[in-house]
Amino acid sequence: MATPCIDTNNRTIDYLRISVTDRCNLRCVYCMPAEGVPPKTHDDVLRYEEIARLVRIAAGLGIRGVRITGGEPLVRRGLTGLVAELAAIPGISDLSMTTNGTLLAQHAAELARAGLRRVNVSLDTLDSDRYRAITRLGRLDDALAGIRAAAETGLRPIKINVVVMRGGNDHEVVRFARRTVSDGWNVRFIEVMPIGEGARAASAHWVSSAEIRAAIEAELGPLEPTVLPGNGPARYWRVPGARGTIGFISPMSQHFCHACNRIRMSADGKLLPCLFTPPDAEIDLRTPLRSGADDATLASLFRQTIAAKPDGHHLDERAVPTCRRMSSVGG
Ligand code: GTP
Ligand code: 5AD
Ligand code: SF4
Repeated sequence: MATPCIDTNNRTIDYLRISVTDRCNLRCVYCMPAEGVPPKTHDDVLRYEEIARLVRIAAGLGIRGVRITGGEPLVRRGLTGLVAELAAIPGISDLSMTTNGTLLAQHAAELARAGLRRVNVSLDTLDSDRYRAITRLGRLDDALAGIRAAAETGLRPIKINVVVMRGGNDHEVVRFARRTVSDGWNVRFIEVMPIGEGARAASAHWVSSAEIRAAIEAELGPLEPTVLPGNGPARYWRVPGARGTIGFISPMSQHFCHACNRIRMSADGKLLPCLFTPPDAEIDLRTPLRSGADDATLASLFRQTIAAKPDGHHLDERAVPTCRRMSSVGG
C-alpha cells in the first residue's frame, strides 16, 4: 500500500476529484450562465485512457478516494468504461460520482456493475416549477427517477446536495429534512459560494448553515450528531430515530480547509491544489502526458500540486476569486 501524502499543513491528501467534462445538460442559476459555456474541443479534453493512467499514478501516491464530477459527468459518452477502468485500479477503495441525476435512471445499473460505489445528487427543490426555474432546463421527475434508480441498484449511500438560496428554496429546507425521516434520504445543505455565477447568489441570497439548522429544529426538534461515510467536508446530524441524515457543508461560515484532504483534476488535464486556485497557478499535466513523460515525472507533478496547497481559502477577506467556474472544476 502506498504511503499517504502529507502536505505542508500536515493534512493527508487521499482524495482526488476528477472533472470529466465542462458540459452540462442543465444551467443552474448559481453555477452556469443561461447561454452555457463555450465547449472545449475534443482534443482539449483528456481521453479516458489518459485519465486512467493518471489515477494509477495518483493511487501510487496514496490517493484512495476518487470522485467523478463535471459539468455533468453523464453527458460524456462511454463514462461507464472509465468507471470500470478506475474501479480496477488497486488502492482506489472509494469510487463515487457527483451528478444532477437527470440522466442517472438510464445509467445507474451499468455504473453499479462497472464498479461505481455511490452517487451524490444535486437537487435544490422538490417543486417541479421551481426545479425548472433553478436549473433552467431540467425536469424534477428525471432527477427523482435517477435517485430511485441509484437506490435500486445499490449506489449507496446516496447524498442529496441542496444549495440553499434565500427567497429561492430556503422555505423548503424542512420539507427536505422530513425526507430523512419518511424516505431515509441523506440530505446535505450547502452554503452558496461566491464563485463564478455563484457570486450574485452568494451576495444576495446567502443563508448560513446555522440558520438552516435552527429552522429545522424549530419544526422537528433537536437534532443529534451522527456520522455518514464519505471523504467530504459535511457534518452530519439526524432527527432522532430517522433512517436518513441531515448534513451541513459550510464553506463560508465554518470553513473546513484545516482538514482539507483533496486535489482536483480538470477535464483539460490541469491539477488544482484548491477549489479556488487561479488559472496561473494550475499545474498542467496534459502537455507532459502527451509529450511522452514517464510515470515518475507525472507523479512529481501530483506531488508539486499537493505541496502547493494553500492553508485555506480567504473568501472572507477577498473579493470574488479569479478561479474557474464551478462547472469546470466540479464543485
Ligand atoms: P463525500 O465523499 O460523499 O463526502 O463527497 P463530497 O461532499 O466531497 O462531494 P460532493 O461533490 O457532493 O461535494 C459537495 C459540495 O461540497 C461541493 O459541491 C462543494 O459545494 C462543496 N465542496 C466540496 N469540496 C470542497 C472544497 O474542497 N472546498 C470547498 N470550499 N467546498 C467544497
Ligand atoms: N456554491 C456552492 N455549491 C455549488 N455548487 C455549484 N455551484 C456552487 C456554488 N456557487 C455545487 C452543486 C453540486 C456541486 C457539483 O457543486 O450543487 O452539488
Ligand atoms: Fe481545500 Fe481549498 Fe476547499 Fe479549503 S477551499 S477545503 S483548501 S480545496
